[in-house]
Amino acid sequence: MTSATVQLAGRPVHRVGFGAMQLPGPHVFGPPRDRDAALAVLRRAIELGVDHVDTAQFYGPDVSNELIHTALHPYPDDLVLVSKVGAVRDAEGAWLGADRPEQLREGVEDNLRSLGVERVDVVNLRLMDGSDVPFADQLGEMVALREEGKIGGVGLSNVEAHHLVEALGTTEIACVQNPYNLRQREGQPVLDLCIERGVPYVPFFPLGSAFPGAAKIPDDPAVVSVARRLGATPSQVGLAWVLAQSDLVLLIPGTSSIAHLEENVGAGDVVLDADALAELEA
Ligand SMILES: NC(=O)c1ccc[n+]([C@@H]2O[C@H](COP(=O)([O-])OP(=O)(O)OC[C@H]3O[C@@H](n4cnc5c(N)ncnc54)[C@H](OP(=O)(O)O)[C@@H]3O)[C@@H](O)[C@H]2O)c1
Repeated sequence: MTSATVQLAGRPVHRVGFGAMQLPGPHVFGPPRDRDAALAVLRRAIELGVDHVDTAQFYGPDVSNELIHTALHPYPDDLVLVSKVGAVRDAEGAWLGADRPEQLREGVEDNLRSLGVERVDVVNLRLMDGSDVPFADQLGEMVALREEGKIGGVGLSNVEAHHLVEALGTTEIACVQNPYNLRQREGQPVLDLCIERGVPYVPFFPLGSAFPGAAKIPDDPAVVSVARRLGATPSQVGLAWVLAQSDLVLLIPGTSSIAHLEENVGAGDVVLDADALAELEA
């Protein structure tokens, strides 16, 4: 674990954190195949110095937060828990929008209860594709929740640059969480804007996600070749590349495996030289 930290809602966090989306059962639905193994991953993350855990009530649903509470409560003082609101799951596991202001409030209340905290350190407003709820109304509710002390910082997720510009015109934004990795860079304008405005950027899918069809970064031939030359693993090279994009990038790779977790935390120590960066870029 590198010693470098970034301020997230006024709290220092290391550059490699942990995403809890891979802990529930297949398709992020239902209980884990091996509950003890899932709890062990969370405890090992803390042992390794992870102080930033990303979750959501709708992972499971209700599974990731319960596992986090069981494994880690009472939480270490330096742990920053980040959740998100805007969605729910139906009985078959489909992802549905729940993004009207009163639903966002309900989502925050659910997180407070399941995580066993009086305030969630950061909550991302996760915009749902096709929603007709005005962004200003959603943001207004998130700011109200922060003013009431239920949220430490308001983050944004799945946003376009104009959302971030609008939000920064009215309030402080703790972080932006959009998809981004070596092979998926449509989010570059938002990352560039975050860099310009000093907002931490927390990419999701840094390794290409567990969803079928997405390009898997550890399988990329250029990544494999650079990893071999540097004596690192392909995942570490993929993660190190994302970290190299800006000092404001914070990682939350998701895994259900202790071996992968240990690898991912080590990515912070991998230095990509100019040749490696050029090979990956090509
Ligand atoms: N805001 C949003 O809308 C949003 C959306 C998606 C995700 N997220 C957050 O972002 C986090 C990261 O995204 P993600 O988990 O979807 O995708 P990801 O981190 O890009 O990739 C996870 C996949 O990579 C595998 N993996 C992890 N470490 C590995 C390693 N060292 N070697 C080989 N394979 C490895 C995992 O399998 P194993 O379990 O076998 O390791 C899993 O299949 C999530 O956990 C979640 O907290 C947010």
